[in-house]
Amino acid sequence: MFANPLRPALLAAARSSRAERGITRMPVTRRIVDRFVAGESRETALEVVRELLRQNRFVTIDYLGEDTVDPGRAERVVREYLRLLEALAQLSQGDVDSPRPLEISVKLSALGQALGEDGHAVALRNARAIAEAAAAVGIWMTVDAEDHAATDSRLAVVRELRREHPETVGTVLQAYLRRTEADCAAFAQEGARIRLCKGAYDEPGSVALRRKREVDAAYLRCLRILMRGKGYPMVATHDPAMIEAAALLATAASRGCADFEFQMLYGIRPAEQERLTGLGQHLRVYVPFGDQWYGYFVRRLAERPANLLFFLRAAAPEGRATILLDR
Ligand code: FDA
Repeated sequence: MFANPLRPALLAAARSSRAERGITRMPVTRRIVDRFVAGESRETALEVVRELLRQNRFVTIDYLGEDTVDPGRAERVVREYLRLLEALAQLSQGDVDSPRPLEISVKLSALGQALGEDGHAVALRNARAIAEAAAAVGIWMTVDAEDHAATDSRLAVVRELRREHPETVGTVLQAYLRRTEADCAAFAQEGARIRLCKGAYDEPGSVALRRKREVDAAYLRCLRILMRGKGYPMVATHDPAMIEAAALLATAASRGCADFEFQMLYGIRPAEQERLTGLGQHLRVYVPFGDQWYGYFVRRLAERPANLLFFLRAAAPEGRATILLDR
C-alpha cells in the first residue's frame, strides 16, 4: 500500500482539478477506467450488478462523486440514489431471493458534508432521505470513509441514522487511523455492521499509520475486535494475508459463512472473488458508477504500482503521462 513512492503525488492529483482536466481528456483513460468503474449510467451499472448476482456475488453500489460544494449537485446525488433503490427493489422481487445481496454505499462529501458550516446538517438530512428509502425496501446502506478530518462528523451521522435504522445502516472504518481500534470496539459492542478497510487517503502521521507493516497489524487487531463483537464484520481487502487471517479469526469466533463477509472492489482480483465464492464464502463487490469517476480512479492507481505502470505505458505514446505528477 505505502510501498509506492508516487502514492502521495497521486493522491494529491486525485484532488487536483488541473490533473483531472488533463487525465479525463486523454482518450486512453476511458479504456482503463472501464476496468474499475461499471459505466457512467445506472442502466450500465445494473447490467453489471445482474451479472455479478448470477455469479453468486453480492454487490454494493456507489454513485460516484465526492467533495461536492454545490447544494444542487448534492440533491441530484440523493435523487439518483432514490432511483437506484427503486431499481434494486425491483431486482430483489425478481432475480434475487432476498435483499441481503444488495447494498448501497454512500459518501457524505457527495451529500453536502463539505458545504461549509451547514455541511454536517445538510449531509445528515440527505443521508437520512436515502437511509429511509433503503430501509423501506430492506436494502443495506453503508457510509463510506473519507478524509480523517470528516470522521467525527461522519460517525455522528451514522450513529443518528443507526438509531433510526439499526438493521440496515452501517459504516466503513479505516484501519490506518490511530483512532480506529477504539471505534471498532464501540461499534462492535453496539452490534453494528462494519466494513473494515485499510484506508485509501494520504493522511498525516499524527492521525494515521503510514507503513504497510503497521497498517496490516492494525487491520488484524481491528478485525479480531469486530469478529469477537456483536456486529457483522465486512472484510474489505484484496490482501491474501488479511483474507486468510479473516477466515481463521471467524472460525475462532464461531462465525459461520453467513456471519461475516468479504468485500472487494469491482475489477480487482476477480479470480480471488470467484475462488472465495466457490468456497461458499459471502463475497460482495463494490460497484461504482457515474461520470464523476476521477478521484476514485486515481486512488486505485495510487494503491498499486502495477496499475499505475499499466496506465503510464498506455498513455506514454500520447506524451501526456507526466500530467499525473505535475500538480
Ligand atoms: P493492499 O493495498 O495492502 O494490497 C494487498 C494486495 O492486494 C496487493 O499486493 C495486490 O495483490 C492486491 N491489490 C490491492 N489493491 C489492488 C489493486 N488496486 N489492483 C490490483 N490488485 C490489488 N478506503 C477508504 O479510505 N474508504 C472507504 O470507504 C473504502 N471503501 C472500500 C470498500 C471496499 C469494498 C474495498 C475493498 C476497499 C475500500 N477502500 C476504502 C480502499 C481500501 O482502503 C484500500 O485502499 C484498498 O482496498 C487497497 O488495500 P488492500 O486491503 O486491498 O491491501
